Amino acid sequence: MEHEEGSTLEFVWITIVAAVIAGLAASMAYYGFAKGFNPVCNATPISIEDIEAGRFEPGVEEIAPGIYRVNIVARQFSFEPSEIVLVDPKRVEFRVVSMDVIHGFQIPGTSVNSMVLPGYIGVFVWEPPEGIEGEFLILCNEYCGLGHDYMRAVVKISSSSSLLEG
Ligand code: CUA
Repeated sequence: MEHEEGSTLEFVWITIVAAVIAGLAASMAYYGFAKGFNPVCNATPISIEDIEAGRFEPGVEEIAPGIYRVNIVARQFSFEPSEIVLVDPKRVEFRVVSMDVIHGFQIPGTSVNSMVLPGYIGVFVWEPPEGIEGEFLILCNEYCGLGHDYMRAVVKISSSSSLLEG
């Protein structure tokens, strides 16, 4: 009798665990296939050879007043450029590539926080609050090797009005 009760309970728990696993798998399948939530699915592929051949130039470009495009090359253990100067930015599109391993790209205190995968151009858009000024750190937040702690860059933001005053 005791033995039979034990088997029944075991069967109940196996059913519950199987249902939880099936539910998780179904939810992943739903978001992956039906909703299209996939990592790097919108990223443009780029090879390290392409970057080395100059098909991705690091640097800052103001494509319209206040609209910036910033190309960044991440590698062990630096970001290039390491200093990004912006005046009155309204919208900043960071395009980040990695020359080696997975790096992170985070501006603490903002919504910019993502992985940088080798083989893809990661695009991260930041719309800074109006009138923002100061220095903002860019950090690598994926452990990428012994120099990981030193991998950083800085965004220096000024407003044109304060430049005139100063
Ligand atoms: Cu790059 Cu940590």
